Amino acid sequence: MILGIESTAHTFGIGVVKNGKILSNVKDAFTTKDGSGGMIPTEVAKHHAAVKNKVYESAIKEAGIKEKDIDAVAFSQGPGLAPCLLEGLKFTKEIALKLNVPVVPVNHCIAHQEIGRITGAKDPVLLYASGANTQIIAYESGKYRVFGETLDLGIGNFIDTFARYVGLGFPGGPKIQELASKGKNYIELPYKVKGMDIALSGILTNLQQKYNSGKYSLEDLAFSLQETVFAMLVEVAERALAHTGKKELVLGGGVACNTRLQEMCKIMCKERGCKFFCPERGLLVDNGAMIAYAGEIMLKAGVKVNPEDLKKLDILPRERTDDVVVSWK
Ligand code: ATP
Ligand code: FE2
Repeated sequence: MILGIESTAHTFGIGVVKNGKILSNVKDAFTTKDGSGGMIPTEVAKHHAAVKNKVYESAIKEAGIKEKDIDAVAFSQGPGLAPCLLEGLKFTKEIALKLNVPVVPVNHCIAHQEIGRITGAKDPVLLYASGANTQIIAYESGKYRVFGETLDLGIGNFIDTFARYVGLGFPGGPKIQELASKGKNYIELPYKVKGMDIALSGILTNLQQKYNSGKYSLEDLAFSLQETVFAMLVEVAERALAHTGKKELVLGGGVACNTRLQEMCKIMCKERGCKFFCPERGLLVDNGAMIAYAGEIMLKAGVKVNPEDLKKLDILPRERTDDVVVSWK
């Protein structure tokens, strides 16, 4: 029985997993009253501190277990906002010491990758498209390698920034998707794929200029935004499949909730003879269950920090996916 704690950014989440089965997945996300979506890390950390006990109790209750049934605590060690990560680490240590169980430090991006296994994927390429992160990740010789990534903005932040600019509030992703479904005309936008990487800030400026010109409807702009940047994601994902020879694609991150992105990925996979996997929404966005799920796999391979060594355990706000030596595969 393993508990997973997620606190890298706006979401404080706790999940319980046993033998690859998710018993509970509870979260509470920081929101701003004005819907601006602006995040001051210390404010978000205060949110996490305020909700942690409630989230913990719900996660235990929903799982139908007792506190003493917990055999280990996994937590998001990085990457993320330092004050938020520290809140998660503090809580992790508290529980681990109270229950006298080991801790499993998990890389947040790798947890997005590992949770793909729950859908049946065995050795996939991950298209991780969230607010702050946009990466194409796959396992190769001992590490999860980043085959491509954004050179500037995360795809979710890019969509949210444009949505905010046109007065849609935060989060913008679902609202842009809704508008896009009503768009009819494709408006040409810059297409920025550089090798395996993508760039989004120039497209954002271009979209803002087009919006300001008053010549285009917001529906058409939203439609063209999605068609353009999702095509860029699909192109680099396809190139990673070709390069690695892998036959499976998994989606992760909040932007993966977008059904048009899912559809485009599905078509690409079908054309290449690859399998497409997309976890359910609650496992795509930041959540504690994916940390517990990845933590359990790592624990079974012997990755753990015992209670007596917890003093030495720290957060890694800048840890990169390929910094982690993968000993569990
Ligand atoms: P990270 O995982 O990098 O820490 P995060 O916590 O900001 O980033 P998630 O919680 O995974 O990211 O996802 C939030 C993002 O998902 C927001 O940018 C939001 O606009 C976007 N999003 C949610 N639903 C949709 C949708 N239907 N279409 C596009 N984007 C969406
Ligand atoms: Fe994430």
